[in-house]
Amino acid sequence: MEDLIKHWKGETVITRFDRPSGAWILIAIHSTHLGPAAGGTRMKTYPDVVSALQDAQRLAEAMTYKLALSGLNFGGAKAVIAVPENLAPDARPDLLRRYGKLIRQLGGLFNTGADIGTSATDMDLIAETGAPYVFGRTPSAGGAGSSGAATALGVLAGMEVASERIFGARSLKDRRVLVQGTGSVGGALIDYLQSAGARVMFSDVEEGAICHFRDGLGLECVPAEEVYHIECDIFAPCAGGQVLNAQTISQLKCRVVAGGANNQLAEPKDAERLRQRGILYAPDYVVNAGGAIFLVGMETHSWTRHKAENMVTEGIQDALSHIFDLALTQDITTEAAARQVAEQRLSPGS
Ligand code: PHE
Repeated sequence: MEDLIKHWKGETVITRFDRPSGAWILIAIHSTHLGPAAGGTRMKTYPDVVSALQDAQRLAEAMTYKLALSGLNFGGAKAVIAVPENLAPDARPDLLRRYGKLIRQLGGLFNTGADIGTSATDMDLIAETGAPYVFGRTPSAGGAGSSGAATALGVLAGMEVASERIFGARSLKDRRVLVQGTGSVGGALIDYLQSAGARVMFSDVEEGAICHFRDGLGLECVPAEEVYHIECDIFAPCAGGQVLNAQTISQLKCRVVAGGANNQLAEPKDAERLRQRGILYAPDYVVNAGGAIFLVGMETHSWTRHKAENMVTEGIQDALSHIFDLALTQDITTEAAARQVAEQRLSPGS
């Protein structure tokens, strides 16, 4: 734990053990260079506190890049609430309220929203004590609601740009797209892909999701253990992080990777591994910025939903096209190109 904090390139780590619930609240603030830090709250059970902190730190760094590339005036952060496996459902609201109080005490240093394991309803609870530093409350509580669909819209825009480069056409009609994870982003992405005429396959580990998308919508379900060697045009990771590693990359039979999950690469070298295999990688924090653009746009800049959706699509298309051009002309990975663009905005003089 000490080493993780000592060697981290971010600014601040806040740790709180929430005694009544037995949960650890970890807030990693990576950068406030562009403004107050923002990032979602991830709530899940981790094997230990160290892996929870590591996750928070990595995710916070990705938020810095995501927000820098989207042109938003926020720095990057992330919160993890590492809950015990047996957390009683009725202990949850008070845990979220205590967490909200902590956010309020931070006085705007950290702004949050939903992420894996939290929802717009949870944001309402957090905002009871954490307002005004909470994005994505339900519309009835005055928020913009879930950002999952906006994130999916941005991923779709990224897929179109990548398709144009690889297949010569933006249209996703008849493209075989494999969506890993059918949560709030993956599920919405499937809807968009179906409307665009793509041939959608999916994988999930939850029985309920499998029933809905396979039996309800008639989509092809791929067993979770086979997901990395299924032949498809586009692979869309929309579940956990670190799914692209030496082993999985060597199995992939796709031409493009573009998905909503954060931190898809297990290590920086994986970007080069994808390039070597001739797979066009749309960097995760570029194409999954839709949620952040949507929430900040609607709740800070008072954009209409229509404007927010247009800004998501156009912003991500432009950013990704520029990054693909840069990668090509400089003969570097798309990940390195994305980093370069973000770092320009983050450099001390700018
Ligand atoms: N958790 C989402 C993300 O990773 C949405 C979000 C963005 C939440 C910004 C809060 C702040 O992009």
